[in-house]
Amino acid sequence: MTARIIDGKQIATQMRREIKEQTEQLKQKGIIPGLGVIIAGDDPASQSYVRAKTKACDKAGIYSVDEHLSADVSQEKLISLINSMNSNPKIHGILVQLPLPDHIDESEVLLTINPEKDVDGFHPTNLGKMLTGQKAPLSCTPHGIIQLLQKTGIQIEGAEVVIVGRSNIVGKPLANMLIQKNDTGNATVTICHTRTKNLAEHTRRADIIVAAAGRANTITADMIKEGAAVIDVGVNRIDDATKKKGYRLVGDVDFENVKEKAAFITPVPGGVGPMTITMLLYNVLEAAKNTAAKS
Ligand code: GUN
Repeated sequence: MTARIIDGKQIATQMRREIKEQTEQLKQKGIIPGLGVIIAGDDPASQSYVRAKTKACDKAGIYSVDEHLSADVSQEKLISLINSMNSNPKIHGILVQLPLPDHIDESEVLLTINPEKDVDGFHPTNLGKMLTGQKAPLSCTPHGIIQLLQKTGIQIEGAEVVIVGRSNIVGKPLANMLIQKNDTGNATVTICHTRTKNLAEHTRRADIIVAAAGRANTITADMIKEGAAVIDVGVNRIDDATKKKGYRLVGDVDFENVKEKAAFITPVPGGVGPMTITMLLYNVLEAAKNTAAKS
């Protein structure tokens, strides 16, 4: 079997077109959706993600401001910037790019964001709402993965889903979304992590594997069931002298071999990545619509 490649770029492009149309409609009511982005430090990967996010906002007609702070910024200064965005009516969504420098208390920072402007869905209030089945902004990567599965016609209900990785950004929220009693849930979910005893024993059972371990070649062909759907969240830089930048991006999955056994697979780049940004645009638009509904 050779897998169908899930074209995240194409699905994202279609969704962004719809988001742009809705943004234009909102603008006619006098509301311009706005995103405030904060990044601290010079991590090249984070900088490139932030550039991609603000560029995508621009293309969708969403206003964005990008505040770049130095790696040694004080926690007080970061929190005061968030507070000024909390009270800025032009900003409907706030995104603090993670990871933050080590001296900053990430939980404290995320708690400062007004939950109504939490377009990452990282605030404990929003996570709690999602967990208990209430309406809340959903974290962008997990939400993007669910959209990819749905739009590709991969059945979630009743599926054995094995998630490799227990991060707050992907593994934990995704698992909770997939077990909800709703039309994007009802899956049977296992989360595997660095202390899992026999990873392959779990992944071989899976109808859907989500690889979010942050390590190349975590999932190899011998670890999957014939006909599985494989979603690769990994973005790993591998040195490659033949490339202009000196590196190439690979996921967590051994793509070339796994694609010969899976029924569906996402490429890296061009799979989950474009969907993460799309769901961010979606959350900014929703936050702006909520403002419109209140005024
Ligand atoms: N770092 C890696 N992924 C994300 C994300 O989705 N949101 C934020 N804020 N930081 C990230």
